[in-house]
Amino acid sequence: LDNGLGRTPPMGWNSWNHFQCSIDEKLIRETADSMVSTGLSSLGYKYINIDDCWGESNRDSQGNLVPKASTFPSGIKSLADYVHGKGLKLGIYSDAGTQTCSKTMPGSLGHEEQDANTFASWEVDYLKYDNCNNQNANLKGRYKNMSQALLNSGRTIFFSLCEWGQEDPATWAGSVGNSWRTTGDINDSWDSMTSRADLNDIWASYAGPGGWNDPDMLEVGNGGMTIEEYRSHFSIWALAKAPLLIGCDVRFISNETLAILSNSEVIAVNQDKLGVQGKKVKSNGNLEVWAGPLSGGKVAVVLWNRGSSQASITVDFADIGLNSSSVVGARDLWKRSNTSAKGKLTATTASHASKMYVLTPK
Ligand code: DGJ
Repeated sequence: LDNGLGRTPPMGWNSWNHFQCSIDEKLIRETADSMVSTGLSSLGYKYINIDDCWGESNRDSQGNLVPKASTFPSGIKSLADYVHGKGLKLGIYSDAGTQTCSKTMPGSLGHEEQDANTFASWEVDYLKYDNCNNQNANLKGRYKNMSQALLNSGRTIFFSLCEWGQEDPATWAGSVGNSWRTTGDINDSWDSMTSRADLNDIWASYAGPGGWNDPDMLEVGNGGMTIEEYRSHFSIWALAKAPLLIGCDVRFISNETLAILSNSEVIAVNQDKLGVQGKKVKSNGNLEVWAGPLSGGKVAVVLWNRGSSQASITVDFADIGLNSSSVVGARDLWKRSNTSAKGKLTATTASHASKMYVLTPK
């Protein structure tokens, strides 16, 4: 969407993957504090996004959405002020149906203009727009209506479509939103994560500055995968130019989790200004090569071992847009070490682990 936002994939935090409906304004404030104190915000994680369950079950007498008095007594505007005061941005959630997925609060179907104006008046910066209880009304129309309402609201708001991959969003959502979901919900498991990576990969050619494929939010740090699996999750999301929305409890983040999410060289691949989604370029059974171009003629590569035992994986430069006799400097982004390679690069990779490189032709 040409609203000036999302020129690189959005980065931030969202409440859903870890907290589901157990959220309140104290959590949002403490999370904002932690995003700053951990250094995550200065690495680019700016959006603090409230997901489902923030509202009262009914609109007020004027038909406005109302923050839930028991959990958000100070209101969303006051949270936006707090978050903005820390140099961060605030995101909110609604649904293109009569109720949100939790059924604890109203959706925005038929109230698009009013709700977009409410969000703008609260100085919200980002809207995630879900797809439950949609009365079988036309999907594209429902998302276009909110897109237009946001554009007319007088505030520039990042628009994140959460249509779960319905109706091949990559083919039409580029003019409607800044990101669109290519899959159903992720959960904190290896199988879910790998399948979301593959489903998202199909649509790579549609992503670019202003509009990104969204394979769903990060599970890194939630406990259901190993450290190597989380490192693979983060590497592939970064390479695929996915939104990097942290989904763990950053108030109690472990050093290991923080080290993954804070790898500035991996983040730089995600935020590269060329904005081309890296994709799976070759697989040999469970051994996969993912790659994509970066600005300045560089190439990002992930060697991903999805098998159950250690293996050696080779990337042939001819498969990733380089000359088969090129000599490159190879930066290992996890080891943070440099080597050089000619024509191909081979690495031994543990089960479910990845090696990630930036190759610079010499
Ligand atoms: C479905 C979405 O895909 C999730 O990310 C989350 O927003 C839930 N709905 C909230 O109910």
